[in-house]
Amino acid sequence: MNTARGSSGKAHKRVLPQGNFHRFDPSSVPSPCLVIDQERLEENSRRLARLRDEAGCKVLLALKAFALPACAPILDRYLDGTAASGLWEAKLGREAFGGEVHTYAPGLKPAELPEMVASTDALIFNSLGQYHRFAPLLANIDGSERLHLGLRINPRHQEVENALYDPAGPWSRLGIDGATLSPDDLEPFSFLHIHALCDHAFEAFARMVAAIEARLGHLFEAIEEINLGGGVLWTDDDFPLDEAIAFLTDFRARTGLRITLEPGTAVALHAGAMVGEVLDVMTADQGVGAPVIVTDLSATCHMPDALEAPFTPDCLNAETLPRTLRPNEVNDPNIARVGGPTCLAGDTIGTYRFNLLPQIGERLVFTDLGYYTTVKGTTFNGTPLPAIALWDSRKDAVEIVATFGWNDFATRLGPF
Ligand SMILES: Cc1ncc(COP(=O)(O)O)c(C=O)c1O
Repeated sequence: MNTARGSSGKAHKRVLPQGNFHRFDPSSVPSPCLVIDQERLEENSRRLARLRDEAGCKVLLALKAFALPACAPILDRYLDGTAASGLWEAKLGREAFGGEVHTYAPGLKPAELPEMVASTDALIFNSLGQYHRFAPLLANIDGSERLHLGLRINPRHQEVENALYDPAGPWSRLGIDGATLSPDDLEPFSFLHIHALCDHAFEAFARMVAAIEARLGHLFEAIEEINLGGGVLWTDDDFPLDEAIAFLTDFRARTGLRITLEPGTAVALHAGAMVGEVLDVMTADQGVGAPVIVTDLSATCHMPDALEAPFTPDCLNAETLPRTLRPNEVNDPNIARVGGPTCLAGDTIGTYRFNLLPQIGERLVFTDLGYYTTVKGTTFNGTPLPAIALWDSRKDAVEIVATFGWNDFATRLGPF
């Protein structure tokens, strides 16, 4: 990935952007396919477990980023549970994963509450108003007395450059400003929840925590715990884990607060790749300005962040070029723009300089796409969903854990 979703991409250096995938045989899976490297997933989980054990904090998987039940056996061994963004993720956390489930949604519906209570251990409210509306309803639901209640705070500290991913920006509907709250306002809550980063390195996390202490320190006496959210690349190869462990240990000792972290991207960092197949190659002699490749992998259906951010995933055996490159600036027959099979003009994965221009039927492997793919993908234009495979890169063993067909597409649209 050249340009991270939230920061400029300069904030961190990706040492192994392609993970183990240079060893992967893309013909061993159907196309398109999301492939998860179990070795890297376990390595990431081990790093997070080290953070948890040595810094004495709780680490939850943010299901919004990565939610493959097939990976639960690995993740459950290392993490404390899941962070859910609403009822369905909470149910998924409860039924498909182990450990605790913490749920936060900016909008709640009264009808969802009974199932939410059954699936959740900690419920985070987005505002005091939301809490006061829902507290009387909760009181009538069996089991609600065991819920830990939290309040989402917007720390008004901005690190994210891309407004699309900035929870702390102007007009944010994600949490309330804590500066004007008093400890008494927090009486119903045992913890605060803050998430203000996206694809950031340690320095940004440290700045955010310092800003939280400065703005919200007067509230710490009223709570037992603080959830510092996700958005940190804890598992990147050059991440200073020792420094982070010392920093969190110091914060815990100084404030007396327990800490929860809920990484998503960091869990699957460098552990996922999308395999696609070349369906057509339109070359300059066919009347296009510069070579254009059509694949069965779609940015809009399978990796919407690539268009929303936008970012360009790296492709094995190719150099990633700027998305802004125009056909009349291309003077190499091996440079091509790669896009999906849909009618969306901008369904572009990226522009690449290949060692040799790919041929029809060839497989392409786009790396660092484990997160925000299956969870966000759609079937726009009736495009089939990618299959899902687990690859044990130590033994080169591939297990196809899911394939999706017509019925899956049709049932997503409702009965007819
Ligand atoms: C509340 C919350 N927690 C955790 C995450 C996970 O962030 P990331 O996948 O960047 O680590 C997000 C991402 O949007 C979030 O909104």
